[in-house]
Amino acid sequence: MTKLALAERVAALAPSPTMALDAKTKALISQGLDVVNLTAGEPDFDTPAHIRQAAQEAMNRGETRYTPVGGTPRLKAAICDRMRAEIGIEYRPEEVLVSVGAKHSLFNAMMALISPGDGVLLPVPYWVTYPEQIRLAGGTVQFVPIAPEHQNVLTADDIRRVLTPETRGLIVNSPSNPSGAVIGRAQLQEIAALAVERDLWVISDEIYARLVYDGIDAPSIAQFEGMRDRTIVVNGVSKAYAMTGWRIGYALGPQHVIQAMANLQSQSTSNPTSVAQAAAEAALTGPQEPVDEMRREFDRRRRYAVSRIQSIPGLEVHEPKGAFYLWVSMAALVGRTLRGRTIRNADDLALAWLEEANVSVVPGSGFGVPDHFRMSYATSLERLEVGLDRMEALLGE
Ligand SMILES: Cc1ncc(COP(=O)(O)O)c(C=O)c1O
Repeated sequence: MTKLALAERVAALAPSPTMALDAKTKALISQGLDVVNLTAGEPDFDTPAHIRQAAQEAMNRGETRYTPVGGTPRLKAAICDRMRAEIGIEYRPEEVLVSVGAKHSLFNAMMALISPGDGVLLPVPYWVTYPEQIRLAGGTVQFVPIAPEHQNVLTADDIRRVLTPETRGLIVNSPSNPSGAVIGRAQLQEIAALAVERDLWVISDEIYARLVYDGIDAPSIAQFEGMRDRTIVVNGVSKAYAMTGWRIGYALGPQHVIQAMANLQSQSTSNPTSVAQAAAEAALTGPQEPVDEMRREFDRRRRYAVSRIQSIPGLEVHEPKGAFYLWVSMAALVGRTLRGRTIRNADDLALAWLEEANVSVVPGSGFGVPDHFRMSYATSLERLEVGLDRMEALLGE
């Protein structure tokens, strides 16, 4: 039999490069190798006990059937309350859609907003999923390099350089994966003004909004004048509450867009898992101390990892203000030889570290910057120390 032909839309689809390296790392670990895995995109903490208990109770109450496609009324109310508390915006339940993780919320939003040929602005570095989702929806990715002197923080000037008459939308991700950069109020206000001026929609991925350090302000672009009705805010419980496996994310925005996204969802996944929705409700309405505890622990690791990286010749990092990643330049190491390997980019360096030193980081090529790598500090301080020792030792040879 001849091999089945694939549809055009998936033939060119790249698998998530971060997942590929994670899989390779896990394969080595399962072979018994002591690999320090700094690739993780998820908290290393357990989901807090009261959240797990809420799921069990929902199950025992018989909440095991279909729910409304876009989420239970109670969860939607909890999301509206939390958004009011966190970003000060009133959303009605009709302006909320609960999906199977924030990634699914993003997918629904892109499918609802992008028509073939639409230009969508994507700041670089970007989270690996955005360009693929934009292309799946038929859009054209318009990469927006961030001026190097701005330490990974997007500005309106960066966007102006790339805008064309075809541009319809903008992706904002603050705090950023991979850079951890947080866009400040003044810069975000200018970006918002530009979006209004050019009549752009904005998808604002705020999944790391609870993980911000040094007490800095991490506003939502939806807060600025003229933005509420042109912004889809995406958030979820995965990162803030250590709930990546539960798969609950949500989108908030203009009712007609949310309704279109719900229609799409009704013909694909239907509702997110009923008991996971009950758990998410408990996360959003219950005690918030676990979030603060996790953030404090991430912060300790962040400061440790930054100081270590800054002391390693050839590596350079700007202190990230949010999320749980360091975005490190290895540009000064390009052209060096390590154990007979020529290091042309961060892919070569990540492979050398994995195969020669048993430590795993994610090369920046998947995020649009081949001379950087991302290392996650969502792992214990002890393991971080071992990993950084190994990285430093190989470079020191
Ligand atoms: C920027 C960003 N958005 C969205 C997601 C996806 O979140 P979820 O696990 O809720 O789908 C991630 C996960 O890595 C992320 O880094």
